[in-house]
Amino acid sequence: MDQSYNTLLVETDEQGIAVVTVDRPDKLNALNDELLNELAEVFKQITIDESIKGCILTGSGEKAFVAGADIKELRGLNEHHGRMKSQKGQQIFQSIEDTRKPIIALIDGYALGGGAELAMACHLRIATRKAVFGLPEIGLGLIPGYGGTQRLPRIVGQAKALELILTGKRLSAEQAKQLGLVNTVVPEQSGMEEAQTLMKEILKNGPLAIKEAMRAVYHSGEKSGYQIEAELFGKLCNTDDAKEGTSAFLEKRKPEFKGQ
Ligand code: COA
Repeated sequence: MDQSYNTLLVETDEQGIAVVTVDRPDKLNALNDELLNELAEVFKQITIDESIKGCILTGSGEKAFVAGADIKELRGLNEHHGRMKSQKGQQIFQSIEDTRKPIIALIDGYALGGGAELAMACHLRIATRKAVFGLPEIGLGLIPGYGGTQRLPRIVGQAKALELILTGKRLSAEQAKQLGLVNTVVPEQSGMEEAQTLMKEILKNGPLAIKEAMRAVYHSGEKSGYQIEAELFGKLCNTDDAKEGTSAFLEKRKPEFKGQ
């Protein structure tokens, strides 16, 4: 993870928590092509680097998490290039969701369009009180193209998702929490601290169980979800970590997970 990026800042602490900051504050961190490529690269690194246990994704500057896809790059796209752009964003966001290490989006400002879609591709979302969510694409004559039409109904239900996508209206952090779009709303100053606390609470647990719990949950919408859940549960039962975790509980001590 010692690679440097033009549009991202990456820092990893000694506990293996990577903080990735989208860094185009003068454009409210809008997702241009270079930034998308760098996001793909950084999450590939996070996936393969065994020393990294989880990631907090946030935005630079006072105003935005990410204010959407870069509208400059959207203007004038033809059908073919529009489809390609959408597919590329979808694949990158899917690779983020598929990272089997917890990814927490910390949203401290605008999360609009592609920014809301990026937050939804993360596994958990913490918003500060000044966060603003919305899918305003309809107002640009477009629809969300980076997975928003699929993930939003999964998270908030079909009727609310349609309302938000068809109106393009914005939600405050508190409204987003009421819909289940964000896990927690915290004061502005304590966003990073709260994200770190949540991450550490997750990482106290065994890495194999964390990984398989995430796999099982993301299969829950599929018909085969129950089958996958049972298979993964069985597989985990057979690991040293599960033996250690159950033994430690019964012996009233803290478990020592080895990831085996
Ligand atoms: N794409 C490209 N540039 C963007 C952008 C986007 N999605 N969002 C903001 N910017 C740029 C602005 O063009 C401006 O650039 P400039 O200084 O070179 O003129 C800069 O970021 C600051 O934005 P500005 O609009 O001046 O800030 P604001 O505080 O007045 O408004 C927003 C903030 C988020 C309400 C407004 O920028 C906005 O509506 N952005 C677009 C949101 C959107 O539709 N996203 C979905 C895209 S699919």
